Amino acid sequence: MCAKPVKNDPKQEVGTTGHVWDGIEELNNPLPRWWVWVFYLCILYAIGYTIAYPAWPLLTGATPGVLGASTRADVAAEIKQFDDANAPTKAALVAADLPAIGDDAALNDYALKAGKAVFNTNCVQCHGREGGGNKAGGYPTLSDNDWLWGGDIATIHATITHGVRNTVDPEARNVGVYMPAWSETATGPLAEAASAQFTAEEIGQVVNYVLKISGQTADEAKATAGTVLYTENCAACHGEDGKGNRDLGSPNLTDAIWLYGGDAATLTATLVNGRAGVMPAWGYNDTGIAARMTEDEIRAVALYVHSLGGGE
Ligand code: HEC
Ligand code: HEC
Repeated sequence: MCAKPVKNDPKQEVGTTGHVWDGIEELNNPLPRWWVWVFYLCILYAIGYTIAYPAWPLLTGATPGVLGASTRADVAAEIKQFDDANAPTKAALVAADLPAIGDDAALNDYALKAGKAVFNTNCVQCHGREGGGNKAGGYPTLSDNDWLWGGDIATIHATITHGVRNTVDPEARNVGVYMPAWSETATGPLAEAASAQFTAEEIGQVVNYVLKISGQTADEAKATAGTVLYTENCAACHGEDGKGNRDLGSPNLTDAIWLYGGDAATLTATLVNGRAGVMPAWGYNDTGIAARMTEDEIRAVALYVHSLGGGE
């Protein structure tokens, strides 16, 4: 409790502040000199600091400080330092003959490491870690030796540069060729262009034919009935033998490696609704929009994909 000021005790050298709590008085000792000096120094330091470094918040930023310190600029400088250090290697990568890069161990090593980083930033969301693929999205596995478009380094490079069926790059692979929808019950983007040629029964027959040629259990009678339907309607794109056609990006149906899936339900969905997978273009820059990747990045990631196990 704070009582009214009491008279200073004459025996006390310093007197009291006049505060008394339950009879205990607060002495009015001066602050230690060292403490006071440290306190003043702190104030001086703080003033100096706010002049030297970014400090006071303004509407759209902060006072910059006379030393021009900026952690962002530091990071940018550090990144530039690494870029400069890598510049000759990148130039060599772009200048090299693509299939011959494998012979240059140092360059190849750089490309695979850089390519992996590029892949993990730009490609994993669709193609999965290490190119494992994702059937639910129709994103092909890149680590097997089954290729829609081709697995030699030049073809992989071209696929990545221009993409597949995107509407951005005029050189994208086969914008107009896709797996048509075959039923009038089709839904989805390809429904309008559906050929509507097959009844549900016929779809079942073709599905069984595909099950059969891919080595799965099939209803023999239906599969036999599906043979004619296949030859008349599908062979043009997937080949008489069902082994696909890389010029059209039409998959091999006999190899038990599936883009979307080889079970009866998925095959039925593929036939009813059609499929038209889209792969972005990564090296296109003809519209004033910067390409998503530079040539050295595309080459690096192409070499990385080529190295995943299925490179031809
Ligand atoms: C938005 C999803 C998506 C992203 C991101 C993506 N891709 Fe693709 N990619 C696809 C699809 C879908 C296909 C299959 C196209 C088709 O149906 O023919 C494909 C096909 C490919 C093929 C052809 C495979 C074959 O069998 O011929 C290669 C190679 C490829 N992608 C590499 C890459 C690389 C490298 C990246 C990263 C720079 C990348 N993709 C990023 C969706 C994607
Ligand atoms: C105009 C060419 C064309 C015709 C005709 C065609 N297809 Fe396709 N088909 C394709 C293409 C291209 C793809 C790959 C689609 C993609 O990449 O998204 C495909 C994909 C498929 C798939 C998916 C394979 C997988 O791995 O998941 C099956 C199954 C299939 N077709 C079966 C057939 C059958 C059966 C017929 C005949 C009724 C047929 N196709 C007719 C071009 C065609």
